[in-house]
This record gives sequence, structure tokens and C-alpha cells, in this order.
Amino acid sequence: MATSADELREEVRRRYAESARAVIEGSSGCGCGSASCCDDDDATKFGEALYDAKQRGELPDAAALASLGCGNPTAVADLAEGEIVLDLGSGGGIDIILSAKRVGQTGLAYGLDMTDEMLALARRNAEEAGVKNAIFLKGVIEKVPLPAESVDVVISNCVINLSTDKAAVLTEIARVLKPGGRVGVSDVVAEDGLTPEDRAARGSYVGCIAGALSKSEYEQGLDAAGFEQISVTFTHEVADGMHGAIVKATKTRDPATRGLPVVQPAEGAGCC
Ligand SMILES: C[S@@+](CC[C@H](N)C(=O)[O-])C[C@H]1O[C@@H](n2cnc3c(N)ncnc32)[C@H](O)[C@@H]1O
Repeated sequence: MATSADELREEVRRRYAESARAVIEGSSGCGCGSASCCDDDDATKFGEALYDAKQRGELPDAAALASLGCGNPTAVADLAEGEIVLDLGSGGGIDIILSAKRVGQTGLAYGLDMTDEMLALARRNAEEAGVKNAIFLKGVIEKVPLPAESVDVVISNCVINLSTDKAAVLTEIARVLKPGGRVGVSDVVAEDGLTPEDRAARGSYVGCIAGALSKSEYEQGLDAAGFEQISVTFTHEVADGMHGAIVKATKTRDPATRGLPVVQPAEGAGCC
């Protein structure tokens, strides 16, 4: 049983490498909610079923099959032509293919993942989909290999719950976003009141359940990282008291005034 953060991350990497290899070889893989990773195997709660028929029609079969998410961040991120989007934990590339099509040739979609096998699968799927404006990066979401203020939108699908350092992830999202940039993430989120032990009793860490933040923890983490207009909306229950959720927030344009009331100077109070 994994204990330290490094061991947990290695277990996550190993399980998702296995899952990517299984898709490449045509056998069934494991992922969020999959029986080989945790007890729940309901295909309506995780994976390609969460995309509508039109979106599935835009995807190569292998990319749809490789979907291991718990939502559809491209449906909530409201992407526009010319934008730069970053997908944290891009897996087999499903959300990158859809995003790259939305932002068009004047935009760019970055997919970041730590698992070589997933990156190989994503590159293959993007090529098959004819996508030219996607770049896949190897790295961890706790230390994003992109410069500050370089991205308009950050998306992610069922990955932040897998991180052993959520505060670092939220800080990195804030760093790479341009002022006014936005987050549209799908993730597993626990109801407030479920203790970490309660969450662990409902599913495994690699199966995207045990490591989930609660709604308040997510909101507080985003607030601490410098976000505004924060919302965490449950969409479907994936385990008792645990939900697929849409997490949205905007990076403040002016960190100096974040959360502070605007004080008008008193009449005559000038300087000099
Ligand atoms: C549950 S899968 C989701 C994949 C994809 N977003 C989707 O919807 O199909 C999790 C993915 O995140 C990657 N991942 C997990 N933890 C990560 C981390 N700390 N840094 C980078 N990638 C990570 C895994 O390699 C895997 O590809």
C-alpha cells in the first residue's frame, strides 16, 4: 500500500501507463471509476459517455475509448477562436482534440501529462484526428513547464483529485493564466462533512475517489490561489456523497485589490 506522496504519484503513473497500453493493445484499461482501479465500474459516471454524440463524432475511436474523465470540461470552458488552452493531465488526448478544434489554427492547445504511455497515445490520437495546433508536454501539474501568464484557459478532467499537492496545482494554474484568464475543470468532489477517511472508504486513490477535495476545500484553495467568481457545481454522484463536478473560476485581474474593499480617499486627504 502506497504511503508517501512520491509512492502515491508513482502508483498513479504506473496505473495510467497500464491503462494507455491497454487502449493501444485493444484490451480494457483501468482509470477513474474503473473496476480494476476501484470498486465502481459504471460507464455512465466516467469516460466517453459524458460527451454528446456530436463531440464523439469529432473523435477517433481510440481517443473516445481512452477517455477516463469524470465530466466534459470543453463543454463548460466556452473556448473561443485564437485562445491558448492548457489541459492538465491530458491522458489519451480527448479534451485536447476537442479544444484544438474550438480554438482553431490561430489558437493552441497544450496537453500536459506525466505518463509517457499516455503522451504517446495522445499524440497518436491527435494525429489521427488531423489536429495540428496541439503540443503535448511531459511534466507534472504541480510544476507546469510553461511561462507565467501564457495561457487563456486551463481545463482538466479528473486529474486534480490525483495530485498529492493540490495547493501547488492551484498556485500553478494561477501562475500560468493571464490576468482575467479562466479555469473550467471537471473533477471528483466530496460533499462537505465527508472526512478524508470517509472518502478513502468509498474508493481508491488511483480510482479518483480517495484523493478528492471537498466542495469547501476546493473553493478555499481557489480563493487562496487568487481566483474570483468561484463555483463548484455537482453534476452526478459517483459514490455515496461524492460527485462529478464542474469547477469554474477566474484569475483576478488585479491581485493588489483582490478581496479588499475599495476605499475612497476622504475629501481633502491628499498627499504633499
Ligand atoms: C484519470 S486520467 C484522465 C485523463 C484525461 N484527462 C481524460 O479525461 O481522459 C488521469 C491522467 O492524469 C495524469 N496524471 C495524474 N497525476 C498527474 C500529475 N501529478 N501530473 C501530470 N499528470 C498526471 C495521468 O497520467 C493520466 O493520464
